[in-house]
Amino acid sequence: MRAVVHDRYGPPEVLRVAEVERPVPKDDEVLVRVHASTVTRGDAMAVRSVEYRFSRLVTGIRRPRRTIFGSEFAGRVEEVGAAVTELRVGDEVFGVERGANAEYVAVRESGVIAQKPTALTYEEAAAVPDGSLLALTMLRPVSPDGKRVLVHGAAGSIGTGAVQLLANHFQAEVTAVCDTKDVALVRSLGAREVVDRLRDDFTKAGTTYDVIFDAVGKHSFRRCRRSLKPGGIYVTADLGFMYHVPLLALVTRFAGSRRARLGIGRYRKEDLRLVREFIEAGRYRPVIDRTFALDEVVAATRYVETGQKTGNVVLRVCEAVPGGQPGPGANLPV
Ligand SMILES: NC(=O)c1ccc[n+]([C@@H]2O[C@H](COP(=O)([O-])OP(=O)(O)OC[C@H]3O[C@@H](n4cnc5c(N)ncnc54)[C@H](OP(=O)(O)O)[C@@H]3O)[C@@H](O)[C@H]2O)c1
Repeated sequence: MRAVVHDRYGPPEVLRVAEVERPVPKDDEVLVRVHASTVTRGDAMAVRSVEYRFSRLVTGIRRPRRTIFGSEFAGRVEEVGAAVTELRVGDEVFGVERGANAEYVAVRESGVIAQKPTALTYEEAAAVPDGSLLALTMLRPVSPDGKRVLVHGAAGSIGTGAVQLLANHFQAEVTAVCDTKDVALVRSLGAREVVDRLRDDFTKAGTTYDVIFDAVGKHSFRRCRRSLKPGGIYVTADLGFMYHVPLLALVTRFAGSRRARLGIGRYRKEDLRLVREFIEAGRYRPVIDRTFALDEVVAATRYVETGQKTGNVVLRVCEAVPGGQPGPGANLPV
């Protein structure tokens, strides 16, 4: 099968499409024919593995342990292992699994996989899990229900997920911060107010919030502090300059009335099912910036690395036609 591989760390150019062995599903796994995948910010960071070198303890010190790239997928179940009970051949599914930039991926039935929302195309479905699940798991611990919440970096993958979940699930009063080109989009996702960060500085407006969620980790606690209500919480997706956020979180737990917190995102099966329900109810939608062919993965990753994408960047892996079989010209298995 064709897959995006990298056998060393480095710039996006280390990625290439190669023929690799098709995975054989174990008893508790399903084999998914991948129709669409994405390049996430996490994927792009992992290929360079420069900013957080300690992440190599997990991914491989000198060279990547897992060589197939990508994490989000949407596709069709093609084989099921003997112990699989719920999923069936032909099911349309989406989820998160390492090595998803490939024509096939083997996924444990108990892993982060669920039936694809019927109203979404494969490309749309592939763009759902990363932003929504990370936003949900970073926000849930600060109980934003019904509160006044500001989202900074609201047009990114996590940001667009956060705005929708806050407005439509947590019933929060959302103020979103993004740049001029994304104002209308972010408003359409449910933000009550939108601050154009290129024109206005929310920290100077005198408005205070119960929660400030920095979905791109570009605004420090120090700068956000006076925009937090007493008892307010600043949550950031990033470890911050010199990885100071965990220490700051500890200090603000015991000193002062405003707290800082590192958002720790997780991919969880039950949350994927929850988000699917939101989609089916019309309360969540994926935001796609650009779509690339699998062969254009280097260009796609370069674009993700700019840090300027709006929502998600999708990779077309193989074409779908009615009946679920790969379309003409699709990359057939070896
Ligand atoms: N803590 C965790 O568990 C965890 C897990 C995964 C990822 N992350 C981190 O989460 C962050 C966001 O990920 P993502 O996938 O949502 O990123 P993303 O989609 O690449 O974010 C792009 C958005 O960031 C905005 N942005 C860029 N520079 C900005 C700045 N200086 N000020 C304000 N906004 C800025 C851009 O908006 P403009 O167009 O307005 O510039 C763009 O819309 C990344 O730093 C990633 O490392 C954390």
